[in-house]
Parts: sequence; C-alpha cells; structure tokens
Amino acid sequence: MAKIVKLDPINQEVSVQTNDNLLSGLLANELNVLKECGGRGMCSTCHVYIKEGMDSLSPINRREMRTLEVITTAKKFSRLACQARVINEGVVVEVPSGMYVSQIDDIEDLIGRRAEENILHPLTGSVLVEAGKLVTRSMISQLKDTQVEISEYIAKIQNT
Ligand code: FES
Repeated sequence: MAKIVKLDPINQEVSVQTNDNLLSGLLANELNVLKECGGRGMCSTCHVYIKEGMDSLSPINRREMRTLEVITTAKKFSRLACQARVINEGVVVEVPSGMYVSQIDDIEDLIGRRAEENILHPLTGSVLVEAGKLVTRSMISQLKDTQVEISEYIAKIQNT
C-alpha cells in the first residue's frame, strides 16, 4: 500500500510505499536531493521540515538525532528524509531552499557573480553565502575547505 505525501511549497503530491523513506518520494518527484552521505543519516542535504503528520512517520533514531543536533537550521519538526519512513497518511513536507556546496560543479566560475540561491553547508545546513551576495575568491577557498571537512567527517563517522 502506498501513502500520499504532500510537498510544500511546490504544492505537489507524491506517492510513497508504506514503510519506504521520505527520500524515495522526494527523488521520485525529481527533486534534486544531494544525499551527500549516501542516505546514511549523516549529513544535512536531505533535511526537511514536517509541516503536518509527524506521527505518521517512523520515530527518530539515534543517528538521525545526533545529525539533527549539528544542523543549524533544524527545528522541532525537522527530519532527515532518508531516515524517516512513511507509516500513515497525512504527511506534509517542506523542503528547505538553497543549494549545497557540492552541487556547484565549478565553484570558481561563481567568483564575481551574485549567488542565485543561498549556498548551504552540506553538514550543518548553515548559509555560507547568502542569495544575492557577491561571491569572492576568499569565499571560494572557504567553500573548498568545507568540502574537505565533509569527506573527513563522513569517514570518521563511518569508523565509529
Ligand atoms: S542523505 Fe545524508 S542524511 Fe540523508
């Protein structure tokens, strides 16, 4: 049996098999979810807000809880889409807006341009460059450092 999940603010509905994770629904809808950690509950790139129906999802597990504590934009109704399984009807999801660092193919091309969307840190979800701000060379080196941090962080977590 499938359940209907609503996606906000794009105002779409998606059908997710009962007990499948929310991420499968987002991907089926061709939303560009980065899955920096490969769907293992260790990054912020599948972070969503549950506007309605928190009780219709599987409970938060320990790893998800730990990751949500690091995400600076996390709120009471935050979940990681790769960890939250859809059990019942009535789920309404809001996807945070912004682009994660590793989505940017050629970061250097952005120098001297204004960021079209907020550029977000893939582990903490914090805004590294605000939409409309000019991207400078020093910002770019900061973004590159962030990418190194991410691979080191994921390798460390995997070994624990
Ligand atoms: S894809 Fe990384 S936490 Fe879900």
